[in-house]
Amino acid sequence: MSPVFLPLAQNLTYLVLAFLPQTVPDEFVDDYAGLTTLRTSFTNALRQLKHLQALEFPFWEAKEDKTFTFSTDIMPSLTHISVGDWQQWDAFEVEHKIDVVKWLIHPDLDFDEDLIRGFFEHLGRQARVLQFAAQSGWGRTDLPQGLAENLQKVSWYKNISEHPLESFTLHGFNPLTSHKQEWTTILPSFLSLLSESNIRSISFIDVPSLRNARRHKLDWSQTSPLHKVSTVQISLALDEDTKDRGDGGGEDFEGEDDDGESDAQKGESDPMSERVPADGLESLLDLFPNVVNLSLANFHRAKKPTTESQRGSEEGQPLAVDSQAYDRFARETFQPAARTFIDRLRVFERFDKLEQVVFRSAEAQLAVRFRRDKTEDKETRWHEELRRLY
Ligand SMILES: *[C@@H]1O[C@H](CO)[C@@H](O)[C@H](O)[C@H]1NC(C)=O
Ligand SMILES: *[C@@H]1O[C@H](CO)[C@@H](O)[C@H](O)[C@H]1NC(C)=O
Repeated sequence: MSPVFLPLAQNLTYLVLAFLPQTVPDEFVDDYAGLTTLRTSFTNALRQLKHLQALEFPFWEAKEDKTFTFSTDIMPSLTHISVGDWQQWDAFEVEHKIDVVKWLIHPDLDFDEDLIRGFFEHLGRQARVLQFAAQSGWGRTDLPQGLAENLQKVSWYKNISEHPLESFTLHGFNPLTSHKQEWTTILPSFLSLLSESNIRSISFIDVPSLRNARRHKLDWSQTSPLHKVSTVQISLALDEDTKDRGDGGGEDFEGEDDDGESDAQKGESDPMSERVPADGLESLLDLFPNVVNLSLANFHRAKKPTTESQRGSEEGQPLAVDSQAYDRFARETFQPAARTFIDRLRVFERFDKLEQVVFRSAEAQLAVRFRRDKTEDKETRWHEELRRLY
């Protein structure tokens, strides 16, 4: 139906094509294969959308119409794009205005250097904001091999210090530990290549915190620091203990020798057990010697107090929070745990330019902001401000 009604949506600015080919049963895969190609009727509809600024089509691979491209002529307003399985980079070879780029990264990528090179050459060329997201349901939390080698080979890389890239986000990848020893250098060598770039802001979000004795620590010691980065965000995933387990027939990539549950069970009775301890972060933070604003989230499995509400005995009633108990939890449990974490990281001592650290927990719905106390120079101290989120 899309080709029928899309051209009518003249003022459309944001379009998501959310078809999921991997939900197609094996026996029908051949029949459905064509559906990952954008039909000419569909790209003709896109040609009408002169105001479209953002387009997400992570599961499409190709286009039928050889003359369709994402050029400024055809799609004059398009600046944001999200791709995943795309193969035909000539569609982006043209002059375009796309500078916000998200790549949903697929496991097969390791094996295809043309794919990696094509992405960097044509969509990376003028990216100001770049995000790599791990394709969910797959379980691998390491970047694909070959990323660094192929980035080095793209035409604009030799001029990386002039490249407009200012913000880089890794979504769902693990910057702390890896499933295999030989993967522990992929992310460090990739970020090393960006050390001369103009990245000001770097984010590691939805970081899986799975850890056990068998996982391998990433070695950041050989990585060149990113001197221009002033904003760093590290936010752990909340569902780390189940995320990589097979949930009914799925490939269980990390589950076999990962043992997240025992970690979670240990923390069961503790209202603020740590997902990742402060010392696990130190060598990663050393990459950003000029950090000004640091944001850390979900480092504890925070259990805020809940009580049954009066009506809570009825089925389906949500648990109400006892507000006095919550305030006490915020001041007497959450804030001290946050302070201890920041103290152990020694960030204000280690980073001269650091102005503030925001320590958040989505589970506790609380944040503490630590700001450097500039009046006192003898001893490193900070102001603390506790805030409720939401
Ligand atoms: C690097 O970029 C600058 C500014 O955009 C340009 O003047 C210079 O020619 C480029 N150098 C190379 C080797 O491409
Ligand atoms: C740091 O955060 C503060 C407050 O949010 C903001 O005013 C300031 O511009 C930020 N500095 C940098 C370098 O991002």
